[in-house]
Amino acid sequence: MRTQVAIIGAGPAGLMLSHLLHLRGIDSVVVDVRTREEIEATIKAGVLEQSTVDLLQQTGVGERLGREGAPHDRINFAFGGELRQVDMAELTGGRRVTVYAQHEVLKDLIARRLADGGDLRFGISGTTVADVDTDRPTVDFTEHGRRVRVECDVVVGCDGSRTSTRFLIPEGSVRTDYFRQYPFAWFGILAEAPPTAEGLVYARSERGFALISTRSPQVQRLYFQCDPATSADDWSDDRIWSELQARVTEAGISVPTGRIFQKDVLHFRSFVCEPMQYGRLFLAGDAAHTVPPTGAKGLNLAMADVYVLDRALGARFADHDSRLLESYTETALARVWRAQHFSWWMTSMLHRFSDVTDFDRRRQTAELEMVVSSPSASRMLAENYAGLPLEPVG
Ligand code: PHB
Repeated sequence: MRTQVAIIGAGPAGLMLSHLLHLRGIDSVVVDVRTREEIEATIKAGVLEQSTVDLLQQTGVGERLGREGAPHDRINFAFGGELRQVDMAELTGGRRVTVYAQHEVLKDLIARRLADGGDLRFGISGTTVADVDTDRPTVDFTEHGRRVRVECDVVVGCDGSRTSTRFLIPEGSVRTDYFRQYPFAWFGILAEAPPTAEGLVYARSERGFALISTRSPQVQRLYFQCDPATSADDWSDDRIWSELQARVTEAGISVPTGRIFQKDVLHFRSFVCEPMQYGRLFLAGDAAHTVPPTGAKGLNLAMADVYVLDRALGARFADHDSRLLESYTETALARVWRAQHFSWWMTSMLHRFSDVTDFDRRRQTAELEMVVSSPSASRMLAENYAGLPLEPVG
């Protein structure tokens, strides 16, 4: 079969790209090794920047988000025995974040693609992408025991942090990978409990970082910094609740408890691959870059990549103008590196490092104090957290 754009991966980047391309009349096929049920049930992030919300709403997939998403105007920081606020909406002229789980975004996108007659292939295996350095790339895969070949003009790798498409860009001669590891992980839970606070709480304590987030009035998402060697099974529910509580008590916060129905340990790192294109192959989202979750940027960067790529593919297919495609890496990476810095900075400012000295502790406190009290420092945080507009970032 033939299509214009073959998209590997039905996550936020792949599904949104397919949706945006459809709106401009460009055909695509999306393939994923996971089943639709797996994709719709995998719990991931949940914080949408203002521009992600706007993009979903302006392209007709934000109706349930508008009804069920929880907008947050403020970010809370707990440190030094107090709970302090940064008023994001006021500092940014009304930009805010909305908590709406990633898998809910995916459900909405899948439903819309299928209603629009989109070609989504779930549960496929044995994917092989070939000839991306020619003008006739192919994607082969097995579906229901049959081998299928897709001939296309362009392949887009949206296959997440466990990507295989990234490795089609020759390492060394063309591709450079930039990494940073962190000596800790996050222990995450989902619990049936009432909310702790109005808005998200980022807490720095002597015992390490904790984050209080939410999913709905009945379901809360909480995290605490842990040893990366920890296994989720090592922690009883009582121990989890007392660790979370211990990290926020000095700020006067009391965490309501409830039934824990999911426990996971999140390992994270900062990563960027450059370039994000090679011949007729383009990468988007986590396949090209990952950020630590502290800045809540992962899903939003995926959306920003495909926003740029959709416009570039539009110019290429409608007007035979390849200039935007040729500058895709440069345009996308400007935003990616800005988010890398922000995510690294938030992580460094809030976590406890094992070799921490008294000097580091005081410096961290001074930095947090500056962020919540200096209008220009608060605005810097607020702008980056609520997210930059989708125009190219320079
Ligand atoms: C979440 O709700 O899962 C969440 C919120 C904020 C973050 C990371 C994760 O920085």
